Amino acid sequence: MGINRETSANNLSLKYKLLDLVTSSWKSQAIYVAAELKIADYLLEAPKTTDELAEKTGTHARALKRLLSGLSSIEVFRQVDDDLFEITPMGKLLCSDSNESLRSWALWWGTNLWQTWGNLLYSVQTGESARKLISGKDGFDHLKGNSEAAEIFNNALVELTRLAAESIVNAYNFSEFDTVMDVGGGYGELLITILDKNLNCKGILFDLPHAKVGAKKRFKQAGLKHRFEFEEGDFFDSVPPGADAYILKSVIHDWNDEDSRSILENCRKAIKPDSRLLLAEQILPDKFDVLSNHQSLARSDLTMLAALGAGERTEAEFKALLKSSGFSVTKIVSAGPTFSVIEAEPA
Ligand SMILES: C[S@@+](CC[C@H](N)C(=O)[O-])C[C@H]1O[C@@H](n2cnc3c(N)ncnc32)[C@H](O)[C@@H]1O
Repeated sequence: MGINRETSANNLSLKYKLLDLVTSSWKSQAIYVAAELKIADYLLEAPKTTDELAEKTGTHARALKRLLSGLSSIEVFRQVDDDLFEITPMGKLLCSDSNESLRSWALWWGTNLWQTWGNLLYSVQTGESARKLISGKDGFDHLKGNSEAAEIFNNALVELTRLAAESIVNAYNFSEFDTVMDVGGGYGELLITILDKNLNCKGILFDLPHAKVGAKKRFKQAGLKHRFEFEEGDFFDSVPPGADAYILKSVIHDWNDEDSRSILENCRKAIKPDSRLLLAEQILPDKFDVLSNHQSLARSDLTMLAALGAGERTEAEFKALLKSSGFSVTKIVSAGPTFSVIEAEPA
């Protein structure tokens, strides 16, 4: 009897834990809605009542109060009293005009990625992109001709890359390179960090047209206009020659092995014998444990599966991919909790 009660108490707590996991997407969508409505920006000015916020955001006051109460239960806001809400340190990270912000990522996750995750079953059954299933668009075609989506995506990547850029630049010595090309560099957060720390270095950002205007604006704001060029192009056609280092951050994980090989072979054609290829990627462990960095790797890996029919790789998979693309790995340096820089030379 005693044993049964203990088992059942354990099961009850496991059931609540599982229930929490099963339903945890409410948090994601609630945060997205707050980000969309710019609630954090309004609360940063001063604490506000529901009516004040409803008026500013054009929302239904009672429904908005329920959203804010829910978000107060997970530290995004704080319910000061029945009808007054204030910002929290976590909520400040949703402000739109802040270097610390994750607002664009919340918008991207809550809109575009939300729908692809809703079709994860298809991706697991087929290994193919759920985004392609629901939109008919492959690769990065979903950004073509959709400047609003492209801006959210590019800003979201700036926010994510900002989390890792400093560690990457501290872990790997870029000072020996005169010219670094950031292939698929987006709005250039990593290249900006490299140029900031390596004053003799010039940077070339190579990406599709959707990144051009935003990237140029960011390099100008960073005071780096004179050491930077944007080269527009498609890395499946060719990669421009001439750089001493070609860095691809979070690019190869967007593509299956065949497509990745095409990109890397184009880098191989462009690269000088003494130049270096650098992949800044997250490396999968051979075995997953109950660890927060393993959970973040799994999230990224499955996101790549659902969005692009692609995924993260183990060290052995990266080495095999690079070898089959004409490179040999010279070293791998760890750069923060999940990222590494894989250095390779033309074989
Ligand atoms: C996941 S993002 C990574 C952006 C940036 N490297 C970072 O980590 O912040 C992938 C980038 O690859 C670029 N890209 C995708 N297809 C491309 C292509 N065919 N030619 C050039 N760039 C491409 C995208 O536009 C995007 O900026």
